Amino acid sequence: MPEAPVIAPPTVRDVLAAARRLEGRVVRTPAVAHPELDGAVADAGARDARLVVKHENLQHTGAFKVRGALNLLLGLDDVERARGIVAYSTGNHAQALAYAAARTATPCTIVMPTDPNPVKERAVRRLGADVVLHGSTFDDARDRAAEAAGAGGARLVGAANEPVLVAGVATAVLELLAQAPDLDVLVVPVGGGSGAAAACLVAEALAPGLEVVAVQSAASPAAHDSWRAGELRSAANTTRAEGLAVGCGFALTQAVLRDRLADFLLVTDDAITAAQAAYLTGARTVAEGAGAAALAAVLSHPARFAGRRVGVMCSGGNASEAELRRALAG
Ligand SMILES: Cc1ncc(COP(=O)(O)O)c(C=O)c1O
Repeated sequence: MPEAPVIAPPTVRDVLAAARRLEGRVVRTPAVAHPELDGAVADAGARDARLVVKHENLQHTGAFKVRGALNLLLGLDDVERARGIVAYSTGNHAQALAYAAARTATPCTIVMPTDPNPVKERAVRRLGADVVLHGSTFDDARDRAAEAAGAGGARLVGAANEPVLVAGVATAVLELLAQAPDLDVLVVPVGGGSGAAAACLVAEALAPGLEVVAVQSAASPAAHDSWRAGELRSAANTTRAEGLAVGCGFALTQAVLRDRLADFLLVTDDAITAAQAAYLTGARTVAEGAGAAALAAVLSHPARFAGRRVGVMCSGGNASEAELRRALAG
């Protein structure tokens, strides 16, 4: 069994409250059928699967994470806001928090390991956050962030054990259910599991017949392994897809996924790259690796999706130039 979460997961009421709070502040991203992608998945063996892509790659900052960040920061009271937030991240979590902090006049410090991806570092700085470079690993950065938060009383914002973030990102699924009410299955990429937990909570409350299927890179399978084992596990963490590069399971998200998730699939990094290429050529869509993982799952496990109407969460579009070159070269 997963360890009991220290923190209770959000309820669907929390999700509805988040949707109200975010009204007009996030993009109502399109949910689109792409006939060329249906053709590609049919060629892969998923006959008559009909895909609907939820384009969170078109969200502010290029990823779904901003929904959670804004939900959290809009909910702070004046004292909490004045103390600010601290987070450790090199990717979309950092950009989302920096964006939300700028819009709510909240001081924001992001700790990144030294030698970060320069594109992401620049984006976070441009959004106005203070960037502290510390340590060579993610764990070093986390320790430094905890220290910084402790010293000034700032709110340390984690990536997964945060119900307010989960409630915020769940608004993407709420929107999708309104845009495509007849989905049979929804495929969601997983790093720490906030997006998949959000999908499970919304589906359970509003669309009980909808199967939620999670996908992770086989090169970073900690959430998958934790879910299959029924307890928190650590695992190798070598995926190229930054958004999926997490080395351990998290209590809150695993507790939600435990009984609600229909299945958890793994895909190779090469399959993710091939899915990025399919998005580029078949849907005129830029997806980063994590953003293409759900499509990779449909292409890699076609039998599971044949004949079904499949929601595919394209969770982010912040692909580096090198990533896009690799996809097109393949
Ligand atoms: C684009 C993208 N997709 C998926 C994920 C995984 O989300 P989660 O950590 O909530 O499972 C991330 C995480 O940063 C991401 O940036």
